[in-house]
Amino acid sequence: MTQTSLRKTFFLETQGCQMNEYDSKVMTDILNIELGLSETKDSKNASLLIVNTCSIREKSQEKVFSLLGVWKKIKEKNPNVIIGVTGCVASQEGDLIRKRAPYVDIVLGPQSIHRLPNIIKKIKSKEEKNIIDIDFSVIEKFDSIKFKTDSKISEFITIMEGCSKYCSYCVVPYTRGTEVSRSLNSILKEAKFFISNGAKELVLLGQNVNAYNYKSSNEICDFGLLLFYISQLSNLKRIRYTTSHPNNFSASVYKAYQHIPKLVNHLHLPIQSGSDKILASMKRGYTVIEYKSVIKKLLEIRPSMTFSSDFIVGFPGETDDDFQKTLDIIEEINFDVSYSFVYSKRPGTPATYYKDNVEDVVKKKRLHKLQDLLNKKLDTRLKNMQGSTQRILVEGVSKKGDNLLTGRTENNTVVNFKGKCNSIGNIVDVRITDKSKNTLKGEII
Ligand code: SAH
Ligand code: SF4
Ligand code: F3S
Repeated sequence: MTQTSLRKTFFLETQGCQMNEYDSKVMTDILNIELGLSETKDSKNASLLIVNTCSIREKSQEKVFSLLGVWKKIKEKNPNVIIGVTGCVASQEGDLIRKRAPYVDIVLGPQSIHRLPNIIKKIKSKEEKNIIDIDFSVIEKFDSIKFKTDSKISEFITIMEGCSKYCSYCVVPYTRGTEVSRSLNSILKEAKFFISNGAKELVLLGQNVNAYNYKSSNEICDFGLLLFYISQLSNLKRIRYTTSHPNNFSASVYKAYQHIPKLVNHLHLPIQSGSDKILASMKRGYTVIEYKSVIKKLLEIRPSMTFSSDFIVGFPGETDDDFQKTLDIIEEINFDVSYSFVYSKRPGTPATYYKDNVEDVVKKKRLHKLQDLLNKKLDTRLKNMQGSTQRILVEGVSKKGDNLLTGRTENNTVVNFKGKCNSIGNIVDVRITDKSKNTLKGEII
C-alpha cells in the first residue's frame, strides 16, 4: 500500500435514515470536488474514515462504537488516518464520543458536514488536533452543496431539516434541530440538476415533509405548492416523499393528490400506535380517528392508494389491550411494508421519565406478533397483485442477473422482469407473474 493511494481515498459508512443517505452523498461530492478524494469500499486503504451515524434507538448508537473499535486498529497501524463521526450520534453525544473513543479526530453534526473539507485541511496541516462542530446552521449547509454529474434514476432531495414536534420518545429534534424549510429556489435548482443528469424520480425528504413552509421577504411556499412546482419540471416522471405527519395534511396537499398524476399512489404515514392513550403519552398530537380521517380523505381522492407505516411497541404503559388496538388498525388499514420497533429509551427525551412497566419478553413477543401480521398482510397484497398490470419506472439492471431489469411499482414494490436496457428510465407496463418474499416478478407487456 503506497502513501499516495492512502492519501486520495476515503471510506464512508452510512447508517440511519434517508436523510443521512442524502448527507452522505453531499459529503462524497464535496470531498471529491474540493479535496480530490475518491470513495473506496476498502476501509484499510483509506486515509479518511467517516461514519454517518443514527441515534434513533440505542442499538443504532451502539453500532457506531463497535465500528470505531475496528477503525482504532487501522489507525494504530497508520496514525495519519483521520477518523470522523458525523450525523445524529455526533450531535447527541458531542465530545463524549472522544471521551469514549479518543482516536476520533472529527465530530460533526448533520448541519456542519459542508465544513468537512476545511476541517480536514486544518487537521492535516496540524493547525488543529481535533474538531467538534455540532452547530445547527442548516441554511449554510444547503447554500454550500456542490453537485456532481452522475444521477441515479431515483434521487433524494432533502427539503427540510429537523423537527419541532417533540414526540416524547424521540431524539430527532435534539440531533437535527427544530424544523427549518430549505428555500424553494435551492430545491428547484437541485431538482433541475438531478433531472438534467438523468433522474426520473425525486424523493423529497424530511422528518415531516408536509410541514414544509418556506417564507422569505417575497415568497411563501407550503408543501402542496412545492409539489406543484416540482411536478412542472419536464422529464420528471415520478414524485415520492417521506416522511409525512398526519397533522400536516392541509388542503393544499389534498389538492396536490387531485391534480398531480406524477405524485405516486402510495404514502408512508407513521401511526406508531393504535391506542389513543399511548398516542397521547407519545405526544403524537392526533387520535386514531384523526389519523384514519387523513387516510379516508386520501382514499376518496385516490381509491387505489396504499399506505405503509411505523410502529413502536412496548411504549411505557402499553397494556395488552393497547397493543391489540395496534393490531386492529393494521387489520383495518391493510398497511403494506412497514417498520416496527421495540421502544428504546433515549437520553434527554421526556419518555425516559415515564415508568417503563412492560417486561422485555412481553415487548419482544408483541413485536413478533405485530411483524407476523404485517408480513401476512404484505404476502396477501403481493399475491393479490399477481395477474395485475403495474406501471414500473425502470431503474436499472437487476442484481439477480439473468438479463433482468428492475424497477418499482407506484406502491414501492420492487419488480424484476426481462427487458432491454434502453427502457431504463422509462415507465413501462409490466404484468405480474410471480412473487418471491418481498419482491415481484413480471413480464413487459
Ligand atoms: N418523523 C417521522 C419518523 C421518525 S424516526 C415520524 O414522526 O413519523 C423513524 C421511526 O423510528 C419512527 O416513526 C418511530 O417508529 C421510530 N422511533 C423513533 N424513536 C424511537 C424510539 N425511541 N424507540 C423506538 N422507535 C423509535
Ligand atoms: Fe421524532 Fe416525532 Fe419528529 Fe417524527 S415527528 S422526528 S417521531 S419528534
Ligand atoms: Fe437516525 Fe438521525 Fe435519521 S437519528 S433516523 S439518522 S434523523
